[in-house]
Amino acid sequence: MADAPTSILFIGDVVGGLGRRTLLALLPGLRERFDPTFVVVNAENVAGGLGITPKIADEILAADVDAITLGNHAYHRKEIYPYLDAQERIVRPANYLSSQPGRGWTVVERNGTRLGVVNMSGNLYLRAGRPAFVEIESVLGRLEGQADQVLLDMHAEATSEKVGMGWFLDGRVTAVVGTHTHVPTADARVLPGGTAYITDVGMTGPRGGVIGVRKEQAIESLRTHMSVRFETSDEDPWLMAVFVRCAETPRRAASIEQVLVPWSP
Ligand SMILES: [Fe+2]
Ligand SMILES: [Fe+2]
Repeated sequence: MADAPTSILFIGDVVGGLGRRTLLALLPGLRERFDPTFVVVNAENVAGGLGITPKIADEILAADVDAITLGNHAYHRKEIYPYLDAQERIVRPANYLSSQPGRGWTVVERNGTRLGVVNMSGNLYLRAGRPAFVEIESVLGRLEGQADQVLLDMHAEATSEKVGMGWFLDGRVTAVVGTHTHVPTADARVLPGGTAYITDVGMTGPRGGVIGVRKEQAIESLRTHMSVRFETSDEDPWLMAVFVRCAETPRRAASIEQVLVPWSP
């Protein structure tokens, strides 16, 4: 029997303790259902809704997660700075300033297959020192010959930047997956050149809030324009992900499937 094709389960922004519990509770069942070669998790909101700590990153990696991606909240917790420099399986946007802690891409290996994991930030409404569309060329150049498959987590606010990046990399990487808005989009597909694409994977956390925040607090802030303390919502947790099956040709996808699963604690 031929070996199963390489596959990647990519899980969208894990938000707060509830998101973390949702991830850890549902991951074993997803492994049974999909048998993914690689599991990659965006965890930029995992520490109380903002940032990540070394302890939490270790906990996620200990669940046999291959790599963690981040985004604009990467530096919210200071204790993560040395960890970002030391731990090769966690990446922050590659187009940040080189003086900022951490790396923007990494290569992880399973069963002799190498997956390049790249994190990139959009430039619209987000602070990133260098343009994503320029920096990605340099990263792909450095990954040449280093990775059999490549996954880009394009962490961006604007749908246009994510759609544009999908077309720009079509036929050059296995998958371009969007994160950051915490709301899943309905456009998952394999582009004509063979790159799996989705504008936003969504989040793993409380769907009963406003992109993770308690809805009463978010509404009060939107209504009054006053300073409101934000806490992570504890209502209606879901895990949101995509499952990408790789094609036989390196760096191409055969399929992408949206995975949206509610969790009852
Ligand atoms: Fe996020
Ligand atoms: Fe974000």
